[in-house]
Amino acid sequence: MKILMVCLGNICRSPVAEGVMKSKAEEHNLNIIIDSAGTSGWHDGESPDKRSIANAAENGIDISRQKSRKVILSDFEEFDVLYAMDESNYNNLLNRSPEKYHYKIKMILDEVHPGENMSVPDPYYGNDGFQLVFDLLNEACEKIAQDLKQ
Ligand code: 4NP
Repeated sequence: MKILMVCLGNICRSPVAEGVMKSKAEEHNLNIIIDSAGTSGWHDGESPDKRSIANAAENGIDISRQKSRKVILSDFEEFDVLYAMDESNYNNLLNRSPEKYHYKIKMILDEVHPGENMSVPDPYYGNDGFQLVFDLLNEACEKIAQDLKQ
C-alpha cells in the first residue's frame, strides 16, 4: 500500500498529512509507504513551512526533514491512493492523470465526512489555521489507519 498526500505547495498541509499518517502507521503496525507532493512545484527542494514544523512539533510529530517536491506523472501509477487536501488540488490531479488512474484520486476529508466535499483549509496566508489543519488531518489519518487494519 502506497499513499501520496497532495496539496498546492507541499510545504504546509501535505507534509503534516505525511507526518501524521506515518505516525499512525507506526502506532497501528501498518506496513505502508507514505509520501507527499505539491501540484505547483513552487517550493521544490524546500523544507516545510516553519509554522507547520512548529505546529506539528507541538503535537508530537517531526516533519522537519521533509523536502517539497512536485507531483510527477509516474506518481499516478506508483501510488495506490492520492489524497488531495482541497478541491483545487483534487481537480488539478484529475486533469493531469491518465483516466485509468482517476479512481485513485480522493479528497482526504471524504474519509471522515463522505459526500460533503470538505477541504483542508489552506493556512499559508494566515497564522491561525495550523492547529485546525492538524486536527482535521489527525482525524482523517486515524480513520484511514483503522480502515487499513480491517
Ligand atoms: P500548501 O500551502 O499547499 O498547504 O503547502 C501553500 C504553500 C505555498 C503557497 C500556497 C499554499 N504559495 O502560494 O506559495
